[in-house]
Parts: sequence; C-alpha cells; structure tokens
Amino acid sequence: MASTLGNTLRMEKLDLAIGAGHGMTIPLILLATVAWWIWLRKKAHRESGLPGTFGLPFIGETLTYVAKMKTPLANFVDLKTQKYGPLFKSSLFFRETVFASDLETVKMIVAKEGRSFVSDYPTSFALLLGRFNGLNLQGENWKRLRRYVMSTIMRVDLLKERMADIEDLVVKTLDSWTDDGRTIYVEDETKTIAFNITAFIVLNLRPGKVSHTLQQDYYPLIEGMFSLPINLPWTIYGKAVKARERILKNLEEFLESRPVTDDVFGNYVKLLEEELPPGSPAGLKHEMGLDLITSLLFAGHDTTAATMVFAVKYIGENPNVLAELRKEHEELLSRKKPGERVNWDDCKTLTFSNNIITETLRMCNISTTVFRKSLEDIHVGEYVIPKGYQVLPYFRSVHFNPEIYPDPYTFNPFRYQESGGSKLPFFGFGGGARLCPGMDLARAELCLFLHHLVMKFESWELLGNDVVSFFPFPRLSKRLPIRVKRRKV
Ligand code: HEM
Ligand SMILES: *[C@@H]1O[C@H](CO)[C@@H](O)[C@H](O)[C@H]1NC(C)=O
Ligand SMILES: *[C@@H]1O[C@H](CO)[C@@H](O)[C@H](O)[C@H]1NC(C)=O
Repeated sequence: MASTLGNTLRMEKLDLAIGAGHGMTIPLILLATVAWWIWLRKKAHRESGLPGTFGLPFIGETLTYVAKMKTPLANFVDLKTQKYGPLFKSSLFFRETVFASDLETVKMIVAKEGRSFVSDYPTSFALLLGRFNGLNLQGENWKRLRRYVMSTIMRVDLLKERMADIEDLVVKTLDSWTDDGRTIYVEDETKTIAFNITAFIVLNLRPGKVSHTLQQDYYPLIEGMFSLPINLPWTIYGKAVKARERILKNLEEFLESRPVTDDVFGNYVKLLEEELPPGSPAGLKHEMGLDLITSLLFAGHDTTAATMVFAVKYIGENPNVLAELRKEHEELLSRKKPGERVNWDDCKTLTFSNNIITETLRMCNISTTVFRKSLEDIHVGEYVIPKGYQVLPYFRSVHFNPEIYPDPYTFNPFRYQESGGSKLPFFGFGGGARLCPGMDLARAELCLFLHHLVMKFESWELLGNDVVSFFPFPRLSKRLPIRVKRRKV
C-alpha cells in the first residue's frame, strides 16, 4: 500500500513534467522507465514471499509501532512474530521494512555490513546529529572516522591513563549521595556522571557551565531523533532542532576559546585536510569535525547512563547479586596496596562485574536493533529480502529467546558462569564491523561505578514503582528514586 501511494505521487510529478511541454519522446521514455521500475518493485514484493502487512498508505504501521514501543506490555515485534514468524515485512517511517528476530539471520545481517547490508539510520538522525555522524556514514567517510576514533580516544593506552580522572568523576557524584533520608534520583545522577566523563574524553572539557548547558540540550535532541521530522515550534522534532542549534553554538564558542587546538576536533580537521580531495571547502572539514564531536557526545553518554540506572535497579532487587558483587570487589582491594587505585587491568579481571554489565544490557534493551538497508536481494530460507528495504535485526528477540537464555525475564548474571555461558550470543554493543567502538570505555566506566557503588553503600532501597517507558530509549518513569545506606568504615 505504502509503495502504491509512493508510485502515485511519482506519477503526478511525471504528469507535471509532460504538462511542461517538452517534445513527446522524452516523456515517453521517462514513462516507460518509470513503468518498468514500478513493475520491478511489484515483482520484488510478490516474489519476496515475506509474510506481514504494510499497513496504512504512506504512514504504514509507524503509529502502531510507536504506540506499542511506549508500553512494555505488548511489544510490536513480539506480536507480529507470533503471527508471522521471525522474518516479516512492515512499513515504518515511510520505508518498506523487514524485521528479523532469529539468531542466524540477525548474525548474518550484522556480519555482512558493507556487502549485502549497510548502516542506514533514519533521516532525523542525520538532520539532528549532522550528516557526517558515524551512524549515518558509509564507505570511505565512515572508515576514516572509525579508524580515527579507534586510534585516538579509544586507544587502550590512552584510556588507561584516564582511568583516575574517570574514577574521580564517578566518586564525586557518589560521595554526594548522603544517607540522611533524602531521595536520590539515580537517572539524573548517572546522566551527569556519564556526560561529564564523555565531555572530558571527547573535548577535554572539565565540568562547569559549558558542560552543563551542553548536557541539558542533549535530551530534547535525543527525543527528536526518533520522531517524525516536522519542524514546528511545538513538535518534539522542532524542539530538537532548536536544541541542536544551541549545542552547535556552544560548541563553536568553546572550540574558539580553547587554548590548545591539538585535540580530538583539531586533529580530525587536520587529518581531513590531508585526506579529503584537494579543493574541498574548508567549511566541509569544520562541519565534519563538529558532527564527529556532537555524535560522540550523544553515543557515549545516554547509553552508559541508562546502563548505570538499570544496574542500580536490578542489583537493588537481587541481594544475592549484591553480595557476590561486593565479594568480588573486596577481593580486588585485598590484592592491592592500601590507597592504590582501581585500574584498567583490574576491571578486565572482574568477571562477575562484567557479567552484571552484560546481563543489565540484555535485560534493559538499550540496543534493541540497529538500522540497516539491503544492498541486493538476499535469500533467507524460502524468502527474499528485496534490495533497498530497511532491515532491522531485532536483538531484543534474541536476548529474550528462552531457548537461548533460559528463564529470560529473570536478571541472572550467574548464567554466564554456567557451562557454555561465556558463548551466549550478545548484541548489547551491536556486532560486526560496526561493533560499538566505545564498548571498552563504557565497560570501564561501569566497572568503576559498580566498584564505588558497592564499596560505599551497604544497600539501597528502591522507592516508588517505576514504569518502564521504552521510547526512544528505555527510561524509568520516576527516574529511579532510591534511599541509600552508607557502609560504616
Ligand atoms: C553502555 C553503553 C553503550 C552502548 C549500549 C552502546 C551501543 C552501541 C551500539 C549497539 C552500536 C552499533 C550501532 C550500529 O551497528 O548501527 C554503537 C555504535 C557506536 N557507539 Fe556505542 N554504545 C555505548 C557506549 C558508547 C560510548 C561510551 C561511545 C563513545 C564515547 C560510543 C560511541 C559509538 C559510536 C561512535 C558508534 C558508531 C560506530 C560505527 O558506526 O562504526 N558508544 N554503540
Ligand atoms: C558534572 O558537571 C556539572 C556541571 O557541568 C557539575 O555541576 C557537576 O558537579 C559535575 N559532576 C561531577 C561528578 O564532576
Ligand atoms: C526488554 O524487553 C523485554 C522483552 O520484550 C521486556 O520483557 C522487558 O520489560 C524490556 N525491558 C525494558 C527495561 O524495557
């Protein structure tokens, strides 16, 4: 249906072209080309054999999808999978879409990045994070950006040096969690921790006014990334556009006032000077640099903060997990000299802590899916994923498949210690060539966070019944209010 309407619209454009009164040959050739193209599309649809429906014309099933995403009760993909099986078509955000939720197909899609499939995020991402942000880039521009990120801020030796600073930012916030009966809203606190760390890593920005203003503007921006791009003052998207303008203005001011230019932004612009074809406009390099920074601040902070929130919740609900986690960190301290700091290599040895991070990410669905496009017709069993479809490998279904994760709705970090546990398929950081480049940094931040959480607090009480709202990212409706009990030392 959606495509039929699309075709009608294209036909109207063509009528206008004919009306404009060129000779007859060109319109005829055009008409024939369009008819042929439509015929090919129709054929592809028929032959794909994919179950599922495209829903309403144009808008497709977008509204149902968004409505169902907002409630944890009836997940759109679960309902559809029950009806049609693990591979089905739909139409979302004006695109013909295929959902894949069985392990083999999910693995295949992620592994064939750049060949049969390519990263293809919604236009609203490109509009709000900039067209040169990592997720929307493909080909040479993507490879250059990825190489640059991996060889600069994500270099292990650099991250090792920064552990003490990261730890200071974690400790500063946790030390402010007093146990005089006050309510702590964990979501607010962890957002600030994660933003301060990311701003420090990416911009060398120390907490202060600039950092605070930047941070506040990110939340309306993120909301807008998953909304319909209708730019009016009162729409979610319109507010996001305004937030982006303020972020860029503040970043520009900061970049102009910074004393050294030998940093993530400056060095990237220098690299572009060497690598872009000669004569590329200077404005382009500057724009690409800004897009790198804005997208790193986005990708690095809200994800990590949400993981911290859900870790506090799940550990708080499971005293046996808390006890085991504390044991691991006490043993770590007993191996270290008094006053010696927790470092990168320590975090690598903390198996149980890392299992908690994995299990938290599995349970809270921060990475539900990634956005891909098919570059060719792809045969999957008896079906064909036609070329040009939006393809969504649905990690969430794999993570909650009872045959892969027995008793999937239970938070159980011990499952990874059982035989075969270390081989469980996990897509919390994506996979394939686009595997999250910030994974090690995120794990290190979370390790330090968990360390101080269990060493400073005896326990915490979860106040209020938070409801999960899952759009665009998992959130708790009450921002996870807790009351803490400090440990006596
Ligand atoms: C718990 C925290 C995090 C989670 C759950 C997470 C998740 C993900 C996922 C699933 C992807 C894959 C997207 C795709 O394949 O299309 C990704 C990509 C990315 N992440 Fe993360 N991430 C986290 C933390 C970070 C941090 C701390 C940074 C950097 C400061 C970061 C920077 C990026 C970038 C730049 C990409 C794009 C990579 C590419 O397209 O090649 N992430 N992340
Ligand atoms: C993070 O930054 C904000 C403002 O930018 C500041 O108020 C806060 O104290 C900082 N937090 C930490 C843990 O340094
Ligand atoms: C994650 O997805 C599962 C399965 O759909 C659901 O049961 C669970 O409530 C979700 N968790 C969050 C935090 O949204």
